[in-house]
Amino acid sequence: WGQEVNISIKLDEKAPIISKHIYGHFAEHLGRCIYDGLYVGDTNKIIPNTAGVRNDIIAALKELRIPNLRWPGGCFADTYHWKDGVGPKEERPTIVNRWWGGTTEDNSFGTHDFLNLCEVLGAEPYLSANVGSGTVQELIDWVQYTNHDGKSPMADWRREHGRAQPWKVKYWGVGNETWGCGGNMTAEFYANIYRQYATFMPGWSGETKIVRIASGASEDDYHWTETLMKNVPHHLMEAVALHDYAVFNWEDKGPSLNFDEEVYYKSMEQALKMEEYVTKHVAIMDKYDPDGKVDLFVDEWGGWYDAEPEVKKGVLYQQNTMRDVMIAGTVLNTFNNHARRVKMANLAQMVNVLQAVILTEGEKMIKTPTYHVMNLYKVHQDATLLPTTITNNTAYRGLPSISVSASKSNTEGINISLVNIDANEQIEVVIDLQHISSKKFTAQQLASNNITAHNSFQNPDSVKPMPFKDFKVKGDKLIVNMPKHALVVFNSK
Ligand code: AHR
Repeated sequence: WGQEVNISIKLDEKAPIISKHIYGHFAEHLGRCIYDGLYVGDTNKIIPNTAGVRNDIIAALKELRIPNLRWPGGCFADTYHWKDGVGPKEERPTIVNRWWGGTTEDNSFGTHDFLNLCEVLGAEPYLSANVGSGTVQELIDWVQYTNHDGKSPMADWRREHGRAQPWKVKYWGVGNETWGCGGNMTAEFYANIYRQYATFMPGWSGETKIVRIASGASEDDYHWTETLMKNVPHHLMEAVALHDYAVFNWEDKGPSLNFDEEVYYKSMEQALKMEEYVTKHVAIMDKYDPDGKVDLFVDEWGGWYDAEPEVKKGVLYQQNTMRDVMIAGTVLNTFNNHARRVKMANLAQMVNVLQAVILTEGEKMIKTPTYHVMNLYKVHQDATLLPTTITNNTAYRGLPSISVSASKSNTEGINISLVNIDANEQIEVVIDLQHISSKKFTAQQLASNNITAHNSFQNPDSVKPMPFKDFKVKGDKLIVNMPKHALVVFNSK
């Protein structure tokens, strides 16, 4: 065994709960995410479905215990007019998806379809509303339509469309990337627009207290976060967003498969920057909101590569490899460790787009390596964070090799998620367990000899969780031989 990395796990009474919403997802009208992806139409007799949504996808998402789902975009959200997506499907107008390939959509998947799907999944819906090309009235009508119990024009319209009870949607995004596709606004201008929208949003939901999410910064745009925190009264804003994709060159993102070690490390360097970005955005939020009233939602994140060559121009679709396992494992560890302020995150995008957990092709559906990360990490949902410190972390190409987070829950016991990003070396990790009473661990791993290993429609289980046994407990120490580019989740009940 090579160099030894040391980790100690603390028990801290004041440690935060890791919100289950960190394990959230994102469904955008983009490529084959919705149409010919999760939604195959309610008249489809070939692919088994529930109200048009594939049953195999519903089962896979239920297994993940997906806590929330953001919809309908992304950039698409600021072109979307929700009223065109309710009522008889054959009467709905079309919409041209101007950001993503110029595809004409028939609006057959709309508000009812999405919110009913969330009910089936047991997931909280997160509606991302149109500010860029919408109006305040359009947004408050949407809140009233989905949430109002009593008699009102929008609640009556909802009833006419067959839904008596309101869905009580809690999470509302006020525009998306308003610095870019959501309107090319300055931070100062958007802060004022936000105040206007947010003023009229509550009041339709009875006891449901809505969460208004301000469109947030990208990567290291700290001025954006600072402006929102300074210029928006905090009683109008429950959360601020942040977007960060693991992209090392926006002009040439490289392929999702067939990349070399050089490119792998560039992706990892970018993925690991999440730690720095979150730390610095949180520091700004702490300065203006020391009591922690406003949450940070990283409502778009993931690896983003060049679309697969066979995909229509302007549309995104990529494969998913062990590199994505490393991205998801390290980024989720960062979110867990920042659970005090990071209360939601949404991996982009759930089906057939960027770092998807599910890919489909006709009747076939596969679970990607990232699906398995989400499945192994679900033990952290709503568990109490166990703060960790890590020393002697091997650095290769200036990047720390080992990433960790730990939690404790009544149902799942102690959970430790460990990632070794090193492309070539196994690493010995010694974890100090002196504060942990139960030391009988079992473990599952995601590993492969090849960093480009992935699941295909021909070989759907090439990457899947396997039992991991290369560890021992000696006194207070858990000694682990972490294989190269591997992820291991330990559990002790
Ligand atoms: O996820 C693809 C796009 O990335 C989203 O539509 C947008 O919000 C972001 O720029």
